[in-house]
This record gives sequence, structure tokens and C-alpha cells, in this order.
Amino acid sequence: MTTGQRIGGNLANFVDERTGAGRALKKNLNKVFPDHWSFMLGEVAMYSFVILLLSGTFLTFFFIPSQEEIIYQGNYAPLSGLSMSQAYASTVDMSFDVRGGMLMRQVHHWSALIFLAAMVVHMMRVFFTGAYRKPRELNWVLGVGLLTLGIVEGFLGYSLPDDLLSGTGIRIAEAIIQAIPLVGTYVAFFLFGGGFPGTIFISRIYTIHVLLVPGIILALITAHVLLVWFQKHTQYPGPGRTEKNVVGFPLLPVYMAKAGGFFFIVFGITTFLGAVASINPIWLYGPYNPSQISAGSQPDWYMGWLDGLVRMAPNWETHAFGHTVSWNILIPGLIVPGIMFTGLALWPFIESWVTGDKREHHLLERPRNAPTRTAVGAMALTFTMVTLINGGNDLLATHFGLSINQIMWFSRIGVFVLPPIAYFVTKRICLGLQHKDRDTVLHGRESGRLVMLPSGEFIEVHEPIDQYARYSLTNHEQPEVVELQLEDAHGVARPGSVKEKIRARLSRGMYGEQVQKPTEKDLLELEDGHH
Ligand code: HEM
Repeated sequence: MTTGQRIGGNLANFVDERTGAGRALKKNLNKVFPDHWSFMLGEVAMYSFVILLLSGTFLTFFFIPSQEEIIYQGNYAPLSGLSMSQAYASTVDMSFDVRGGMLMRQVHHWSALIFLAAMVVHMMRVFFTGAYRKPRELNWVLGVGLLTLGIVEGFLGYSLPDDLLSGTGIRIAEAIIQAIPLVGTYVAFFLFGGGFPGTIFISRIYTIHVLLVPGIILALITAHVLLVWFQKHTQYPGPGRTEKNVVGFPLLPVYMAKAGGFFFIVFGITTFLGAVASINPIWLYGPYNPSQISAGSQPDWYMGWLDGLVRMAPNWETHAFGHTVSWNILIPGLIVPGIMFTGLALWPFIESWVTGDKREHHLLERPRNAPTRTAVGAMALTFTMVTLINGGNDLLATHFGLSINQIMWFSRIGVFVLPPIAYFVTKRICLGLQHKDRDTVLHGRESGRLVMLPSGEFIEVHEPIDQYARYSLTNHEQPEVVELQLEDAHGVARPGSVKEKIRARLSRGMYGEQVQKPTEKDLLELEDGHH
């Protein structure tokens, strides 16, 4: 035994004798995890969060969360002699005078962008494969909470430097808060400690940004990952994989090595971006001044859809009984996002109500085999994309020589017209792919080999697929449409409640159209060579 092994063994014994961790570790380190590249998306989000905590801690050493006005006398000459808040000046100092400060700021900002992007793509993977079905609905809801908090955290973060861009963002947030009927003005006064911009807002959001929200996110991530641990991970269908087993690799050494290596890859890419790609150059925007606004103001991408919604709203306001209701802010700034996020959180429950499916699912679905879900997802993404485009309308106008009004009208119309088109087209594509799968099972794969028959006709030779591929293409379920029960148990006619009718209708929309997968009989015939 080498000295290293002896020390390691003694250490392990020491810990085990005092905590009893040995048995638990042995059990858990052998735990099997299914493997698929798309399962790393949640990991990217997790690693980005760790990078955010590390780089953010560095930033707190130098950032001064104060709106006290000072005259800048630092090394960045173009700002010399300008009046600005300490928050802004300390961020400029950090960028130019603190060793590694610029790199850390940029790493922090890039990892925030990657964190949110990873979360959204991870959510898309979970959505399009139906991973949120029972028993994982709760984890989906936790995920929606994480996404919401991530967006809020990012917004608070880029609002801290008190530059012209972020100050404009805070002003929009204030407008949205003020648009809440009845209490809006009071809430805004409370948060800003008086009129906008006040002198205490930055220090308040600083505490929320570095303490409160990260703490909640950390707690939620822990709960989220623990749930994945206890409920076990879903797996893609395939030979040998059932609803009752998990096929994959053990946590130690395979997953530990993969995850550890992957963390450093994410860290490396983020640091590379931070080193070479400029992000949020606040010294070019200048300090915030409520009387100024720059053209080309555009939030970070995860806020762009909200900004885009507000930008496309017509100027609707109601004045009554001495009060103003600003529908142009209230609807796009609060009501539509409220509906979007509530719908997102409730989706697993809505789906299981419509389908009547209350069973547990551990095998994932291929998006094509759930055409309506996939189409709804494409519709939601298209809607968000149109709003996001409008969030960058002034930059698109200057970069591509377009008129800002044209972009706005494109968005106003597109936001209603394009999502239904996306729904329809996606559903047709899914059904087309189901057709293709059926053909592949029954008639084999196109081999690309053209043969001329004695009659002169050309045909393409099809090669039969092996039994594993055939299993993968046919083992999915094809649920039945929920029909209205128009008679009760005694055969007496009953009209059916409105709720039942809605459910039956939605169910028909969900499963009414699908390409029948090859039946057992077809497959048996295939084996006997009848096809
Ligand atoms: C801070 C952000 C998040 C982190 C760090 C995170 C982390 C993870 C990790 C590491 C996994 C296991 C690997 C994987 O399936 O990718 C996972 C699974 C899962 N996540 Fe997240 N996630 C986050 C946000 C979200 C969001 C926004 C949603 C959806 C709204 C979501 C829903 C789920 C569900 C339902 C599972 C179980 C999937 C399965 O077993 O197939 N997560 N998450």
C-alpha cells in the first residue's frame, strides 16, 4: 500500500466512524444515471450559477452601492470631471483600475447570459420530451420559479452600475410598477423612497441582488436537484429501457468525471468570452441622468421580450374618476407576462387534465409523437421570438436601414398571426415524421440505391431495419381521445357539463389526429415476410 492510499483510507475511516457516511456514499455513488447529451443542459445552468457566485463575490469587493453624487477623477479621461453616482464611478474604476476587474465583470455578465440561456434550453428539452409529466410536475413548477427568479436577478444585476442604459431600464420598471391599478403609485414611492430616481434604490436592489435572490435560487436549485435524485432521471425510450428501470452509467466514476470535466469546460468558455468579447461597456453609455436617453437602448436578451411587448403596445389609457389606467403598460408589462408564466407553471396539470393520464412516466416522448404539445411549444416560442425582435427594434432599424414603424407593425401583426401558423406547420411536420417512421418500420429504410426493373421502371431499394430500431420506432403510446359520456351508468341521457365538453374538445385537438403506428399484427406479418 502506498503512503497516499494509507492516508486516504485512514481519512475515509475517520469520516465514516464519526458520521456513518460510508454506507450512504457507497449506495449513492453507485447510483445509475441515464446518459444523453440533452441532460447536460440543466448542468450548464448549474455550473453557470456557481460561476456567477464566484465572480459576483469578487465584484462585491470593489462595487460601492451608493447613489451619492461625486465628481469623477479616475483614469478614464473621457469621463473626467463629470458628476456621477458612486455606483457608476466604482464600476468604471473596477473596469480600468482594478487588476482583473474588467475580466471579472465580463465573466459575471456572460455567465448571467449563459445561465438564463441554459435554463431556457433546458426547459425546452423538458417540455418537448414530456419530462414534466407525473411525478415530476413539482420539479417543473420549481423550474418555472427558478426561471422567474433568474430573470429578476439578471435585471437587478445589470441595473446596479447606474449607467445611462440601466437607469433607463429601472425607469421602465418603475413605470410598470406604477401601472398596477390602485396601489402602483404607493408601491413605487415605497420602493424608491419617494420620487424617481431617489437616492436609495441602488443600495436596496444591491442587497436583494447579492443576498436574497441568490439565496432563494440556491435553495431552489438544491430542492430541484434533490428531486431529480430521488425521483430518478427520465430516460429516452429504447431497447431494454422501461418505465421501471434505469439504464445508464454509475455516478462514480463515469458521471463524476464527466460532470467535473464539464464544469471546467463551461468555466473555460465563459472566461474566454469574458476575455475577448466586450459586454456592457458602461463607460461608453455614461452615467445615468433622468433627463437623457440614448438611442439603441436595449436590455439583456432575457428581458428583451418584455421590453418588446411594452414597445409594441398602442397608446391606450383610460381616465376616469380622477385616475388614469395605463393599459399600454399594464397589459404588456404585467397581464401578458402573468398569463405566460402562470400558463407555463400550470401546463403539466392542464395536459394531464385534458388527457386524463394520471400515470407515472419515466420514459420520455419523442416530440413528433406528441404533435400537439410540440406545436404548442413552437407557438409559444414564436410568440416570444416576435416580442424579442421588437425589443431590439431601434437597433434593427439602424443596422438594417429599416423604419422603426415597419418593425413595430410587423411585430403587432406578427404576434397574433405567426404563432398560429407555427402551431399548424409544426403539427403537420410532426405528423409527416410519424408517417415516415411508419413507412420505415413497414417498408424499410431508403438505401439510396436505384435499380432499373426489366420493365424500365426505376425503383429505390429499401433495406429492412433491425429489430432494435423497429422497437424504438414503435414502442410509444398512442393515447385515445377522451369522449363525452352522454349517458350515465343507467343508460339515461345526460348533457355533459361545460367542463367535460371543454375537456373532450381539447382532447380531440390533442390526440384527434395521429398516424396509426404499426400494430402488433403488422409487425408479426412483417416477421413472416408478408410486407
Ligand atoms: C437554476 C436553474 C436550473 C438548474 C440549475 C437546473 C438543473 C437541473 C438538472 C442538473 C437536472 C438533471 C439533468 C437534466 O435533466 O438536465 C434537471 C432536471 C429537471 N429540470 Fe431543471 N434546472 C433549472 C431550471 C429548470 C427549469 C426552468 C425547468 C422548467 C420550467 C426545469 C425543469 C426540470 C425537470 C422537470 C427536470 C427533470 C427532468 C428529467 O428527469 O428528465 N428546470 N434540472
